[in-house]
Amino acid sequence: MSNYKIKLAENTIDKSEKNNLSNWIKKNDYYTKGKLTLKFEQEFAKKLQNKFSIFVNSGSSANLLIAKGIQELHKKKKIKIVLPSVSWITTVMPFEQLGYDIKLLDCSTYDLGLDVIKLENICKTFKPEYVCVVHVLGHLNNMQKIIQLSKKYKFRIIEDNCEAIGSHHKKKISGSYGFASSCSFYYGHQITTIEGGMVSTNDKKLNEIMISVRSHGWARDINKNIKKKYEKKYKIDEVRSLYTFYYSGFNLRSTEVNAKLGLSQIKKIKKIALKRNKIFKLYSKYLKDFWIQNSNTDLISSFGYGTLVKNRTEVYKELKKNKIESRPLICGNIGLQPVWLKKYNKQKNLQNADVVHNHGIYLPIHYNIKDKDVEFVCKIFKKIARPIFFNT
Ligand SMILES: Cc1ncc(COP(=O)(O)O)c(C=O)c1O
Repeated sequence: MSNYKIKLAENTIDKSEKNNLSNWIKKNDYYTKGKLTLKFEQEFAKKLQNKFSIFVNSGSSANLLIAKGIQELHKKKKIKIVLPSVSWITTVMPFEQLGYDIKLLDCSTYDLGLDVIKLENICKTFKPEYVCVVHVLGHLNNMQKIIQLSKKYKFRIIEDNCEAIGSHHKKKISGSYGFASSCSFYYGHQITTIEGGMVSTNDKKLNEIMISVRSHGWARDINKNIKKKYEKKYKIDEVRSLYTFYYSGFNLRSTEVNAKLGLSQIKKIKKIALKRNKIFKLYSKYLKDFWIQNSNTDLISSFGYGTLVKNRTEVYKELKKNKIESRPLICGNIGLQPVWLKKYNKQKNLQNADVVHNHGIYLPIHYNIKDKDVEFVCKIFKKIARPIFFNT
């Protein structure tokens, strides 16, 4: 437990949800994946304007499931993918662990998403089959341009939406742009199932594969018609069919207990996104002399207020002294993380990501934060922080 007065994150599970959950546990005996999971998946898919959603035990598992599902779909390992250098470590690592052919791409100085000019250049030389975006701190990438490039250069988009649940632009919600998208319901994200994540897609075949990959790669969960076809092909009898595996899988399932929480949390997305958007605007007003993450987003379900400072350690320490929690701007440049450098050389063309790595810091935004807390954070921050911009 932290002794910060102004925390980066606070729980969104309220008293009535806790009571409902404990009553439900007392009345029921079956807690592993079942009817509530299915209901949560259906409601989440609807919310994201997608056909299918699959509930898993974390956002990292969601990314892993997408990475493995796509390999099974193409029946090959070495798939060319562009990944964002400014992202979360488990946005990138599942693709690395599974042997994808990876290129990291620099971030935009505008929204910290992919730099679309550099993306077009890499499309000409590397010819990616997939491009992954992360909506850093809730700000949408320049999706209009990225979709245009995806048509021109024939790549599919994967969308890591773990920091942006509830953000939307021109009535299109984040998480609905990708061939597949991931969400995280970890404590401190927009909504929570304690731990948890979701994969969403409109692609029937990928969905079938991922449902199986989530549960060991077994046949049990897959569509009856597909299952029949496989049983004929591989001569599987009724008994053997209970433990037959058509894909290389994991166990990434969550439980009915977490799904029960998800079903009540999902109702709060709009209200939480509105509050986070309001707090983002308040920070922007007070910190206008500092670099502000501009956005292609009509409503920013802001995960935290990201900014750049020359003297990050001093700022961090001063905030801490005043019991204000802060963090570096997520993983900075993944290409500078020791886990990456142990295996790969430093990539030279990630200049913007390097600035984020060394100078990025983010400030608290959550549902319970008050205007006066934001005013206090900004007062302390402005007293000590020295602004820096990408091109200085
Ligand atoms: C962009 C992004 N992707 C993936 C994850 C992983 O989510 P989880 O913590 O649920 O594994 C996070 C976690 O904060 C994240 O910020």
